Amino acid sequence: MTKQMKLLAFDFNGPSHLSAGLWRHERDRGSEYTNIQTWIDYAKMLEAACFDGMFFADNDGYHEKYHGSVDGALRDAAQIPSNDPAFLVPAMAAATRHLGFGITTSTAYTPPYAVARKFATLDHLSDGRVGWNVVTSYSDSAARNLGNGTQLAHDERYERADEFIDVTLKLTEGSWDDDAVVRDRENCTYVDPARVHEIGHQGKHFSVPGIFTAEPSPQRTPVIFQAGGSPAGVALAAKTAEAVFMNSMSKSGLKKQVDALRAKAAELGRDPHHIAVLQMITVISAPTDEEAQRKYQEYLDLVSYDGAMARYSGWTGLDMSQFDPDKPFEDVKTNAGQTMVDVYTKLDPGKKWTPRDIALENGIGGTSPVIVGGPETVADELISWMDETGIDGFNVAHAVKFADVEDFATYVVPELQRRGAMRTAYDGNTLRENIFGPGNARLFADHPGAAYHRATTIASVSPEVVPA
Ligand SMILES: Cc1cc2nc3c(=O)[nH]c(=O)nc-3n(C[C@H](O)[C@H](O)[C@H](O)COP(=O)(O)O)c2cc1C
Repeated sequence: MTKQMKLLAFDFNGPSHLSAGLWRHERDRGSEYTNIQTWIDYAKMLEAACFDGMFFADNDGYHEKYHGSVDGALRDAAQIPSNDPAFLVPAMAAATRHLGFGITTSTAYTPPYAVARKFATLDHLSDGRVGWNVVTSYSDSAARNLGNGTQLAHDERYERADEFIDVTLKLTEGSWDDDAVVRDRENCTYVDPARVHEIGHQGKHFSVPGIFTAEPSPQRTPVIFQAGGSPAGVALAAKTAEAVFMNSMSKSGLKKQVDALRAKAAELGRDPHHIAVLQMITVISAPTDEEAQRKYQEYLDLVSYDGAMARYSGWTGLDMSQFDPDKPFEDVKTNAGQTMVDVYTKLDPGKKWTPRDIALENGIGGTSPVIVGGPETVADELISWMDETGIDGFNVAHAVKFADVEDFATYVVPELQRRGAMRTAYDGNTLRENIFGPGNARLFADHPGAAYHRATTIASVSPEVVPA
């Protein structure tokens, strides 16, 4: 039987996400990012096409490495300007019933208590449709402007993230019993104090002794996504992620990453299929292969080399203007996003990438592979990525904002549905159910957060406040 793919629409709350210079295309509507109605209409379109969710990248800083300046990023709107994506969720959730919303939030600057509270609020307001993409951050500008000036070392950021997630799990799963809210009018008791507990967390990075402010939300814990692919990133994902976002340029490279992650999860006693893997992909589609190819050529003509290098320099923490554009970019170490370097230097052994190749490739959809074609060509290719790598689906990026994913919904989705490779109706209510099937609104029992879960402490409760 054909496996049904999970689909998220990948976006950014700004005029331009991954593609360089493409905001100049006549169909691009990136400048509407400040218009809430545009986002609402887009969310409704995605739900009509049965997407599982939207996935928002975010960056607390800005790209300032290329030529040692932010100017290149500003000129190409390279992820700046940008607004906080979390504020879009309640409006889009109110206009939809099933679509999920993955929001990137860093563990580097805000205390875990505040992050847990933000996601609990979003989970309430969306009826259980929120996910948290846990990132450890890579941007020195964010460290300077939001942190204490300097970035922690790469692996130390992950160590801190591990404790950060642990604190949030204690808060969302362990502070309140499922039935703590009793709303007992007779005894003037809204919340039964016996069913709310201090978490008593004392660790290396955080001290959180008290109770959580938020009552349990439909999913209690947002679906935990992660993206870092370095050894420290994989170790954390294997332990705590429920969905991992990967970006490999080749199927063979991706398969290696997927197998390594699943093996590590199994070593830790988790069912490896309790982690969904989603590969980033950019699809340029049209009614026929020829029209799609024409569209792709039109896009390539608009790619900005400096815009692409401004982004890539920011992600890798390397000033790409220092490297010879025509010499292979070899194994380089960075304190920023190691995966963003490895994607060209390690994960595709069949090819040597020069900075010029990287810029051209990155200019359309960032580090994602690009599929160009009519409905059948695209469906064949997506299904072969699924079959050959063991992934669960895709995070669909774009070159031209809103238009490319709208085209995907128009041309590709019906073909995938016709082949049984994509859902034709929703069968659950929460984001976790969209990903893992109905009845899975809460964390799986083998997730470390499940150990903190408090269903009820009913035995300790005085009889008069037991709900009817
Ligand atoms: C596919 C992918 C997407 C990412 N998206 C974001 C993002 O939106 N915001 C962010 O701050 N970091 C993002 N990151 C950065 C990572 O989460 C991580 O903080 C950084 O890459 C360093 O870890 P690594 O060396 O393990 O990749 C992303 C990384 C990858 C690989």
